[in-house]
Amino acid sequence: MTPRPTGSPGRARPLRGAVPSPNIWKHTATYETENRAVDPDGVLWSTLRSLAPWTGRTVLDLGCGTGFHLPAFAADAGRVVGVEPHPDLLALARRRTARLDHVSVLAGTAQAVPLPPSSVDVVHARWAYFFGPGCEPGLAELDRVVRPGGTAVVVDNDGSRSTFGAWFRRGYPHLPAPAEVERFWSTRGWTRTPVDMGWRFASRADLEAVVRIELPPAVATEALRHHDGLEVDYAVNVWSRSF
Ligand SMILES: C[S@@+](CC[C@H](N)C(=O)[O-])C[C@H]1O[C@@H](n2cnc3c(N)ncnc32)[C@H](O)[C@@H]1O
Repeated sequence: MTPRPTGSPGRARPLRGAVPSPNIWKHTATYETENRAVDPDGVLWSTLRSLAPWTGRTVLDLGCGTGFHLPAFAADAGRVVGVEPHPDLLALARRRTARLDHVSVLAGTAQAVPLPPSSVDVVHARWAYFFGPGCEPGLAELDRVVRPGGTAVVVDNDGSRSTFGAWFRRGYPHLPAPAEVERFWSTRGWTRTPVDMGWRFASRADLEAVVRIELPPAVATEALRHHDGLEVDYAVNVWSRSF
């Protein structure tokens, strides 16, 4: 899940401050396929739950996209808020959660969260805005909106390990190296939990389509040439911090 490189949004304009996310902005259906393939054995979800238990609490999903993860939080959270800067995705997230009374989806960004101070217990941001250096304005917003005793969990690629990690480093060599990302988070009091979550697809066509929205074309072609099957070994980091 690689939301960063160039690419223009679709017809609707995202809010100012949105990080270009061509994978989900331009290939929304394929991104849904990707989300279905992520974490097939639930290792990432159980890690998140152990780091930031949300039963009965207020959860904020920052950069919620089409709201794919909102129902999972809603199953036992007291209240769930999704925040998303892209109007088309925001509309899809609202539609997905329309029957869930305790879920709301708001237009906003991580740098300007449309919530009052000390109003959230758990913040979840998955492949959204918080990529290390440059996300300081969003971190300041976390300080404002998270209640004392609350927790934030940020999910991002681990470029230092796994098959996908190697593809990612090859595809985006200009991004900060894993050691620099680690330094960014650890010097600010965040803890790294490495997770081997994996991808598992229903078909080879799905796997190939997703690889092609996540990597530059030449890197994707080369990766697919050397990789058989329906699964990819994919490591992420969960960065967490208590407030
Ligand atoms: C790769 S997608 C991930 C979506 C969702 N978290 C998921 O896992 O399905 C990145 C999302 O972050 C959103 N985004 C981009 N810039 C943002 C910002 N400054 N604040 C909050 N969200 C942002 C994008 O519009 C996009 O929906």
